[in-house]
Amino acid sequence: MSVLPPGATIGIIGSGQLGRMIGMAAAQLGYRIHVYAPETGPANDVAFTHSRGAYDDIDALRAFARQVDVVTYEFENIAAAPIAALGDKVRPSARSLEIAQDRVREKRFVEALGGTPARWAEVADRAALDAAIASVGCPAVLKTTRFGYDGKGQARLMAAGDADAAWDAIGGGPAVLEAFVDFSAEFSVVLARGSDGAVAMYPPPANVHKDGILDTSSVPAPAIEPWRAQAEALAAKVAEALDHVGVLTLEFFCGPDGAVFNEMAPRVHNSGHWTIEGAETSQFENHVRAVLGLPLGGVGLTAAHAEMTNLIGDDVAAWPALMAESGAHLHLYGKREARPGRKMGHVTRIER
Ligand SMILES: Nc1ncnc2c1ncn2[C@@H]1O[C@H](COP(=O)(O)OP(=O)(O)OP(=O)(O)O)[C@@H](O)[C@H]1O
Ligand SMILES: [Mg+2]
Repeated sequence: MSVLPPGATIGIIGSGQLGRMIGMAAAQLGYRIHVYAPETGPANDVAFTHSRGAYDDIDALRAFARQVDVVTYEFENIAAAPIAALGDKVRPSARSLEIAQDRVREKRFVEALGGTPARWAEVADRAALDAAIASVGCPAVLKTTRFGYDGKGQARLMAAGDADAAWDAIGGGPAVLEAFVDFSAEFSVVLARGSDGAVAMYPPPANVHKDGILDTSSVPAPAIEPWRAQAEALAAKVAEALDHVGVLTLEFFCGPDGAVFNEMAPRVHNSGHWTIEGAETSQFENHVRAVLGLPLGGVGLTAAHAEMTNLIGDDVAAWPALMAESGAHLHLYGKREARPGRKMGHVTRIER
């Protein structure tokens, strides 16, 4: 792939905060972004221009793709076929999207490469849930196969008697049932892979979730160290097998018998936001570099410690105090309304 020089335009499918932060990194290097989404969002504030269209409108997507030099996406809950129709201009390719957006496919893909998810079973319909409970056991988590995020589309089962309630809570199948992992910690491997196959992996952050939503990510994370090498080896294999170009994130649990694969995202990730101030090159800049065919930047820590905390819903009201706090870097996404569970911004605290 040839290198796209400064001045080129990156098309981004999706208008959320991830697109916004990709756009800010692109602007620093002299590139522009063109956002494609059905509605305007945080990314539009920093975009050169935008197109409005549905995520499955092939004609509108093609018209958008003609106006940009490369197309990337900032979330994975979109149909893969229309993205595949855009061909080589899309990075990461539609294949990364197809695998990562489907819990059954991603688990099989990772298992074929030697990775270990929690014990799981496919749940096509309500009857299959009873069979799945018999094979997986309880406690367990029922998750919709597609379109889940921030803990949405998930329900816990403490016992077989919870089956009906869990099935109703996720709005029916298709789904997967996963054994509940008794983990000591959670972490993620955030890596960037260039178009030449070079891979750069950030030091993995320890992630703490609250109500199914990421709360904090911190590095360095000594508690996850014994699980790190195994997870990084798997992440490298996954990136290679997908021929992934761009940032790729794999989430893991620290399980009693090793690193347990949770899920992957074919994109920049909330658990990588600390890299803006805490790493030599942010995940957003490295994503931009990768999709443009440029060499990747260094991923070493620039701080003794970095911790990112999400500002969810009303948390954002603390912005004046956060702005005044020494060593705290405040990021607000420009969302007008602070609804419960909505990611409004984040703050990264750096210790030099
Ligand atoms: N099998 C499991 N065992 C124990 N905890 C789990 C399990 N599955 C999910 N969780 C908990 O719920 C969190 C969210 O789950 P998961 O990553 O599957 O959801 P998601 O909605 O895709 O989240 P996101 O897209 O925000 O990462 C996990 O990070 C973990 O804390
Ligand atoms: Mg997750």
